[in-house]
Amino acid sequence: MQAWDQSLYGERGFYRQVAGPAGHFSTATQGMPQIGELLARALLELMNREGLDTFVDMGCGRGELLEQVHRLAPKVRCIGVEIVARPPLSSAIGWLQSPGGERLPDELDGLTDTLVFANEWLDVVPCPIAELDEDGELREVIVNASTGDERLGDPVSGTDRQWCQWFWPADHLEPGDRVEIGETRDTAWDDLVSRVGSGLAVAVDYGHTIDSRPAPGTLTGFRQGRQVLPVPDGSCDLTAHVAMDSLTHDELLDQRTALRQLGVNGQTPPHDLARSHPAAYLQRLSTASAATALTARGGLGDFLWAFTHSR
Ligand SMILES: C[S@@+](CC[C@H](N)C(=O)[O-])C[C@H]1O[C@@H](n2cnc3c(N)ncnc32)[C@H](O)[C@@H]1O
Repeated sequence: MQAWDQSLYGERGFYRQVAGPAGHFSTATQGMPQIGELLARALLELMNREGLDTFVDMGCGRGELLEQVHRLAPKVRCIGVEIVARPPLSSAIGWLQSPGGERLPDELDGLTDTLVFANEWLDVVPCPIAELDEDGELREVIVNASTGDERLGDPVSGTDRQWCQWFWPADHLEPGDRVEIGETRDTAWDDLVSRVGSGLAVAVDYGHTIDSRPAPGTLTGFRQGRQVLPVPDGSCDLTAHVAMDSLTHDELLDQRTALRQLGVNGQTPPHDLARSHPAAYLQRLSTASAATALTARGGLGDFLWAFTHSR
Protein backbone atom coordinates (compact mmCIF):
# COMPACT_ATOMS: atom_id res chain seq x y z
CA MET A 1 0.00 0.00 0.00
CA GLN A 2 2.90 2.34 0.79
CA ALA A 3 4.44 1.60 -2.61
CA TRP A 4 1.11 2.38 -4.28
CA ASP A 5 0.81 5.67 -2.39
CA GLN A 6 4.39 6.68 -3.14
CA SER A 7 4.09 5.82 -6.82
CA LEU A 8 1.03 8.05 -7.29
CA TYR A 9 1.62 10.90 -4.80
CA GLY A 10 5.33 10.82 -3.93
CA GLU A 11 7.70 13.56 -5.09
CA ARG A 12 7.89 12.00 -8.57
CA GLY A 13 4.49 10.39 -8.36
CA PHE A 14 2.41 9.62 -11.42
CA TYR A 15 -0.27 12.21 -10.63
CA ARG A 16 2.29 15.02 -10.39
CA GLN A 17 2.93 14.84 -14.15
CA VAL A 18 2.03 18.04 -16.01
CA ALA A 19 -0.26 16.11 -18.38
CA GLY A 20 -2.60 15.22 -15.49
CA PRO A 21 -5.06 12.32 -15.66
CA ALA A 22 -6.35 13.43 -19.10
CA GLY A 23 -2.92 12.66 -20.58
CA HIS A 24 -3.42 8.97 -19.74
CA PHE A 25 -7.10 8.10 -19.69
CA SER A 26 -10.43 9.73 -20.28
CA THR A 27 -13.19 10.18 -17.71
CA ALA A 28 -16.71 11.61 -17.74
CA THR A 29 -15.36 15.01 -16.72
CA GLN A 30 -12.56 15.48 -19.25
CA GLY A 31 -12.84 12.86 -22.03
CA MET A 32 -15.12 14.88 -24.32
CA PRO A 33 -16.30 18.45 -23.71
CA GLN A 34 -19.96 17.65 -24.57
CA ILE A 35 -20.01 14.88 -21.96
CA GLY A 36 -18.37 17.07 -19.31
CA GLU A 37 -20.84 19.85 -20.08
CA LEU A 38 -23.85 17.57 -19.69
CA LEU A 39 -22.48 16.25 -16.40
CA ALA A 40 -21.92 19.83 -15.22
CA ARG A 41 -25.53 20.70 -16.10
CA ALA A 42 -26.78 17.69 -14.13
CA LEU A 43 -24.68 18.68 -11.11
CA LEU A 44 -26.02 22.22 -11.27
CA GLU A 45 -29.53 20.77 -11.31
CA LEU A 46 -28.64 18.73 -8.22
CA MET A 47 -27.26 21.85 -6.50
CA ASN A 48 -30.39 23.75 -7.38
CA ARG A 49 -32.63 21.05 -5.91
CA GLU A 50 -30.53 20.89 -2.73
CA GLY A 51 -30.21 24.69 -2.40
CA LEU A 52 -26.39 24.69 -2.64
CA ASP A 53 -24.17 27.51 -3.91
CA THR A 54 -20.62 26.13 -3.68
CA PHE A 55 -19.12 23.40 -5.85
CA VAL A 56 -16.01 21.55 -4.71
CA ASP A 57 -14.39 19.15 -7.15
CA MET A 58 -12.35 16.67 -5.12
CA GLY A 59 -9.44 15.23 -7.09
CA CYS A 60 -10.32 17.54 -9.96
CA GLY A 61 -7.55 16.66 -12.42
CA ARG A 62 -6.65 19.92 -14.14
CA GLY A 63 -9.99 21.60 -13.43
CA GLU A 64 -11.85 20.52 -16.56
CA LEU A 65 -15.23 20.02 -14.83
CA LEU A 66 -14.79 23.18 -12.75
CA GLU A 67 -14.43 25.21 -15.93
CA GLN A 68 -17.65 23.72 -17.28
CA VAL A 69 -19.56 24.48 -14.08
CA HIS A 70 -18.12 28.00 -13.91
CA ARG A 71 -19.01 28.73 -17.54
CA LEU A 72 -22.59 27.53 -17.13
CA ALA A 73 -23.14 29.18 -13.72
CA PRO A 74 -20.62 31.96 -13.03
CA LYS A 75 -22.28 32.80 -9.70
CA VAL A 76 -21.56 29.37 -8.24
CA ARG A 77 -18.43 29.42 -6.08
CA CYS A 78 -16.06 26.77 -7.50
CA ILE A 79 -13.09 25.20 -5.73
CA GLY A 80 -10.75 22.51 -7.02
CA VAL A 81 -8.79 20.15 -4.77
CA GLU A 82 -5.75 18.45 -6.32
CA ILE A 83 -2.21 17.41 -5.45
CA VAL A 84 -0.58 19.82 -7.92
CA ALA A 85 -0.35 23.62 -7.85
CA ARG A 86 -3.17 25.56 -9.48
CA PRO A 87 -3.09 25.22 -13.29
CA PRO A 88 -4.14 28.19 -15.47
CA LEU A 89 -7.92 28.38 -14.90
CA SER A 90 -10.56 31.13 -14.90
CA SER A 91 -9.56 33.49 -12.11
CA ALA A 92 -12.78 33.02 -10.11
CA ILE A 93 -12.07 29.32 -9.59
CA GLY A 94 -10.47 28.61 -6.20
CA TRP A 95 -7.88 25.90 -5.64
CA LEU A 96 -6.56 23.91 -2.69
CA GLN A 97 -3.41 21.84 -2.97
CA SER A 98 -3.67 18.48 -1.26
CA PRO A 99 -1.16 15.87 -0.04
CA GLY A 100 -2.94 13.11 -2.00
CA GLY A 101 -4.44 9.67 -1.48
CA GLU A 102 -6.33 9.40 1.80
CA ARG A 103 -4.90 12.71 3.09
CA LEU A 104 -6.78 15.99 2.67
CA PRO A 105 -5.60 19.59 3.04
CA ASP A 106 -6.38 21.25 6.41
CA GLU A 107 -7.84 24.30 4.61
CA LEU A 108 -10.62 22.13 3.20
CA ASP A 109 -13.03 22.60 6.07
CA GLY A 110 -16.22 24.26 7.30
CA LEU A 111 -17.87 24.03 3.89
CA THR A 112 -21.45 25.29 3.94
CA ASP A 113 -24.19 24.85 1.35
CA THR A 114 -21.70 22.90 -0.70
CA LEU A 115 -21.78 20.07 -3.20
CA VAL A 116 -18.53 18.07 -2.94
CA PHE A 117 -18.16 15.91 -6.01
CA ALA A 118 -15.46 13.23 -6.12
CA ASN A 119 -15.36 11.60 -9.53
CA GLU A 120 -12.93 8.67 -9.67
CA TRP A 121 -11.05 9.76 -6.54
CA LEU A 122 -11.52 6.76 -4.24
CA ASP A 123 -10.31 4.19 -6.78
CA VAL A 124 -6.87 5.84 -6.57
CA VAL A 125 -6.84 5.98 -2.78
CA PRO A 126 -4.48 3.07 -2.06
CA CYS A 127 -5.92 0.13 -0.17
CA PRO A 128 -4.39 -3.06 1.21
CA ILE A 129 -4.84 -6.11 -0.99
CA ALA A 130 -5.16 -9.56 0.54
CA GLU A 131 -5.25 -13.07 -0.90
CA LEU A 132 -6.70 -16.27 0.49
CA ASP A 133 -3.87 -18.82 0.84
CA GLU A 134 -4.11 -22.62 0.51
CA ASP A 135 -4.84 -22.92 4.26
CA GLY A 136 -7.80 -20.56 4.03
CA GLU A 137 -5.92 -17.68 5.67
CA LEU A 138 -6.32 -14.17 4.29
CA ARG A 139 -2.81 -12.68 3.91
CA GLU A 140 -1.68 -9.26 2.78
CA VAL A 141 -0.11 -9.13 -0.71
CA ILE A 142 3.35 -7.50 -0.59
CA VAL A 143 4.67 -5.99 -3.84
CA ASN A 144 8.24 -5.36 -4.91
CA ALA A 145 8.09 -1.69 -5.99
CA SER A 146 10.59 -1.99 -8.84
CA THR A 147 9.62 -5.33 -10.39
CA GLY A 148 5.97 -5.66 -9.39
CA ASP A 149 6.73 -9.18 -8.06
CA GLU A 150 4.32 -10.22 -5.34
CA ARG A 151 4.48 -12.44 -2.26
CA LEU A 152 2.08 -13.10 0.58
CA GLY A 153 2.83 -11.42 3.94
CA ASP A 154 1.21 -11.61 7.37
CA PRO A 155 -2.41 -12.57 7.96
CA VAL A 156 -4.78 -9.61 7.73
CA SER A 157 -5.56 -8.33 11.23
CA GLY A 158 -7.16 -5.48 13.20
CA THR A 159 -9.63 -3.11 11.56
CA ASP A 160 -8.80 -4.47 8.10
CA ARG A 161 -9.85 -7.95 9.22
CA GLN A 162 -13.04 -6.57 10.72
CA TRP A 163 -13.77 -4.74 7.49
CA CYS A 164 -13.36 -8.00 5.52
CA GLN A 165 -15.61 -9.94 7.90
CA TRP A 166 -18.29 -7.31 7.52
CA PHE A 167 -18.05 -6.29 3.88
CA TRP A 168 -16.13 -9.02 2.02
CA PRO A 169 -16.68 -12.26 3.98
CA ALA A 170 -14.36 -15.17 3.21
CA ASP A 171 -17.12 -17.84 3.02
CA HIS A 172 -17.35 -17.56 -0.76
CA LEU A 173 -13.61 -17.16 -1.41
CA GLU A 174 -11.37 -19.83 -2.98
CA PRO A 175 -7.59 -20.02 -2.48
CA GLY A 176 -6.03 -17.40 -4.80
CA ASP A 177 -9.06 -15.09 -4.60
CA ARG A 178 -8.33 -11.49 -3.65
CA VAL A 179 -9.89 -8.92 -1.39
CA GLU A 180 -9.29 -5.20 -1.91
CA ILE A 181 -9.82 -3.95 1.62
CA GLY A 182 -11.90 -0.78 1.59
CA GLU A 183 -11.11 0.54 5.08
CA THR A 184 -8.77 3.29 3.84
CA ARG A 185 -11.34 4.46 1.29
CA ASP A 186 -14.12 4.47 3.91
CA THR A 187 -11.93 6.51 6.27
CA ALA A 188 -10.90 8.96 3.54
CA TRP A 189 -14.54 9.39 2.56
CA ASP A 190 -15.62 9.99 6.17
CA ASP A 191 -12.86 12.57 6.49
CA LEU A 192 -14.07 14.36 3.35
CA VAL A 193 -17.69 14.28 4.51
CA SER A 194 -16.65 15.68 7.90
CA ARG A 195 -15.37 18.82 6.13
CA VAL A 196 -18.90 19.61 4.95
CA GLY A 197 -20.85 21.57 7.57
CA SER A 198 -23.96 21.64 5.38
CA GLY A 199 -24.55 20.21 1.95
CA LEU A 200 -23.99 17.02 0.05
CA ALA A 201 -20.98 14.87 -0.83
CA VAL A 202 -21.16 12.54 -3.83
CA ALA A 203 -18.56 9.87 -4.56
CA VAL A 204 -18.69 8.47 -8.09
CA ASP A 205 -16.64 5.47 -9.07
CA TYR A 206 -16.48 2.13 -10.74
CA GLY A 207 -17.17 -0.26 -7.96
CA HIS A 208 -19.12 -3.11 -6.52
CA THR A 209 -21.47 -4.05 -3.72
CA ILE A 210 -21.57 -7.08 -1.46
CA ASP A 211 -23.53 -9.12 -4.00
CA SER A 212 -20.96 -8.56 -6.75
CA ARG A 213 -17.44 -8.55 -5.26
CA PRO A 214 -14.82 -9.33 -7.94
CA ALA A 215 -13.00 -12.53 -6.83
CA PRO A 216 -9.79 -12.16 -8.88
CA GLY A 217 -9.12 -8.57 -7.75
CA THR A 218 -9.24 -5.46 -9.92
CA LEU A 219 -5.90 -3.71 -9.33
CA THR A 220 -4.64 -2.48 -12.68
CA GLY A 221 -2.36 0.11 -14.26
CA PHE A 222 -2.99 2.73 -16.96
CA ARG A 223 -0.46 4.64 -19.02
CA GLN A 224 -1.15 6.78 -22.09
CA GLY A 225 -4.53 5.21 -22.74
CA ARG A 226 -3.32 1.64 -22.34
CA GLN A 227 -3.93 -0.88 -19.61
CA VAL A 228 -0.54 -1.98 -18.25
CA LEU A 229 0.85 -4.16 -15.44
CA PRO A 230 0.27 -2.45 -12.10
CA VAL A 231 3.92 -1.86 -11.13
CA PRO A 232 4.17 0.78 -8.36
CA ASP A 233 7.15 2.65 -9.83
CA GLY A 234 5.48 5.99 -10.64
CA SER A 235 5.20 5.23 -14.36
CA CYS A 236 1.48 4.43 -14.44
CA ASP A 237 -1.84 5.00 -12.72
CA LEU A 238 -2.71 2.32 -10.16
CA THR A 239 -6.38 1.83 -9.55
CA ALA A 240 -8.71 -0.72 -7.96
CA HIS A 241 -12.50 -0.75 -7.98
CA VAL A 242 -14.26 0.64 -4.91
CA ALA A 243 -16.50 -1.22 -2.46
CA MET A 244 -19.11 1.53 -2.76
CA ASP A 245 -21.58 0.04 -0.27
CA SER A 246 -19.09 0.22 2.60
CA LEU A 247 -18.84 4.01 2.25
CA THR A 248 -21.02 5.98 4.65
CA HIS A 249 -23.98 6.92 2.48
CA ASP A 250 -27.65 7.89 2.50
CA GLU A 251 -28.28 6.59 -0.98
CA LEU A 252 -26.42 4.48 -3.54
CA LEU A 253 -27.49 4.61 -7.18
CA ASP A 254 -25.95 3.61 -10.47
CA GLN A 255 -24.97 6.57 -12.65
CA ARG A 256 -27.70 5.81 -15.17
CA THR A 257 -30.40 6.16 -12.51
CA ALA A 258 -28.75 9.13 -10.78
CA LEU A 259 -28.46 11.09 -14.04
CA ARG A 260 -31.93 10.17 -15.29
CA GLN A 261 -33.35 11.54 -12.04
CA LEU A 262 -31.50 14.77 -12.85
CA GLY A 263 -33.11 14.99 -16.28
CA VAL A 264 -30.37 13.45 -18.42
CA ASN A 265 -31.79 11.30 -21.21
CA GLY A 266 -30.54 10.08 -24.55
CA GLN A 267 -33.72 10.76 -26.51
CA THR A 268 -32.92 11.80 -30.07
CA PRO A 269 -34.62 15.01 -31.28
CA PRO A 270 -37.55 14.77 -33.74
CA HIS A 271 -36.42 14.61 -37.40
CA ASP A 272 -38.66 17.55 -38.30
CA LEU A 273 -36.40 19.78 -36.23
CA ALA A 274 -33.54 19.02 -38.65
CA ARG A 275 -35.49 20.83 -41.39
CA SER A 276 -36.99 23.64 -39.33
CA HIS A 277 -34.00 24.41 -37.04
CA PRO A 278 -30.91 22.52 -38.22
CA ALA A 279 -28.57 24.10 -35.65
CA ALA A 280 -30.91 23.28 -32.75
CA TYR A 281 -31.28 19.75 -34.13
CA LEU A 282 -27.51 19.22 -34.20
CA GLN A 283 -27.18 20.65 -30.69
CA ARG A 284 -29.83 18.29 -29.31
CA LEU A 285 -28.32 15.35 -31.18
CA SER A 286 -24.96 16.06 -29.58
CA THR A 287 -26.59 16.30 -26.12
CA ALA A 288 -28.41 13.01 -26.72
CA SER A 289 -25.20 11.22 -27.66
CA ALA A 290 -23.43 12.64 -24.57
CA ALA A 291 -26.34 11.39 -22.45
CA THR A 292 -26.09 7.96 -24.04
CA ALA A 293 -22.37 7.82 -23.23
CA LEU A 294 -22.92 8.89 -19.60
CA THR A 295 -25.66 6.32 -19.01
CA ALA A 296 -24.41 3.41 -21.14
CA ARG A 297 -24.71 -0.15 -19.85
CA GLY A 298 -21.27 -1.76 -19.64
CA GLY A 299 -19.79 1.75 -19.54
CA LEU A 300 -20.11 4.97 -17.55
CA GLY A 301 -23.75 4.24 -16.71
CA ASP A 302 -22.65 1.37 -14.45
CA PHE A 303 -20.59 3.66 -12.20
CA LEU A 304 -22.01 3.99 -8.71
CA TRP A 305 -22.94 7.25 -6.94
CA ALA A 306 -22.84 7.35 -3.13
CA PHE A 307 -24.72 10.35 -1.70
CA THR A 308 -24.00 11.59 1.84
CA HIS A 309 -25.81 14.62 3.28
CA SER A 310 -24.44 16.86 6.04
CA ARG A 311 -26.88 19.02 7.98
C1 LIG B 1 -8.58 9.09 -11.61
S1 LIG B 1 -8.19 10.77 -11.45
C2 LIG B 1 -9.76 11.55 -11.70
C3 LIG B 1 -9.65 13.01 -12.01
C4 LIG B 1 -10.97 13.74 -12.24
N1 LIG B 1 -11.81 13.74 -11.07
C5 LIG B 1 -11.71 13.15 -13.41
O1 LIG B 1 -12.88 12.76 -13.26
O2 LIG B 1 -11.13 13.09 -14.51
C6 LIG B 1 -7.95 10.94 -9.71
C7 LIG B 1 -7.41 12.28 -9.30
O3 LIG B 1 -7.51 12.38 -7.88
C8 LIG B 1 -6.39 13.10 -7.42
N2 LIG B 1 -6.23 12.84 -5.98
C9 LIG B 1 -5.95 11.70 -5.36
N3 LIG B 1 -5.92 11.86 -4.03
C10 LIG B 1 -6.19 13.16 -3.80
C11 LIG B 1 -6.31 13.94 -2.61
N4 LIG B 1 -6.18 13.42 -1.40
N5 LIG B 1 -6.56 15.25 -2.75
C12 LIG B 1 -6.74 15.79 -3.98
N6 LIG B 1 -6.65 15.11 -5.13
C13 LIG B 1 -6.39 13.80 -5.04
C14 LIG B 1 -5.25 12.57 -8.26
O4 LIG B 1 -4.13 13.42 -8.21
C15 LIG B 1 -5.93 12.47 -9.63
O5 LIG B 1 -5.78 13.64 -10.37
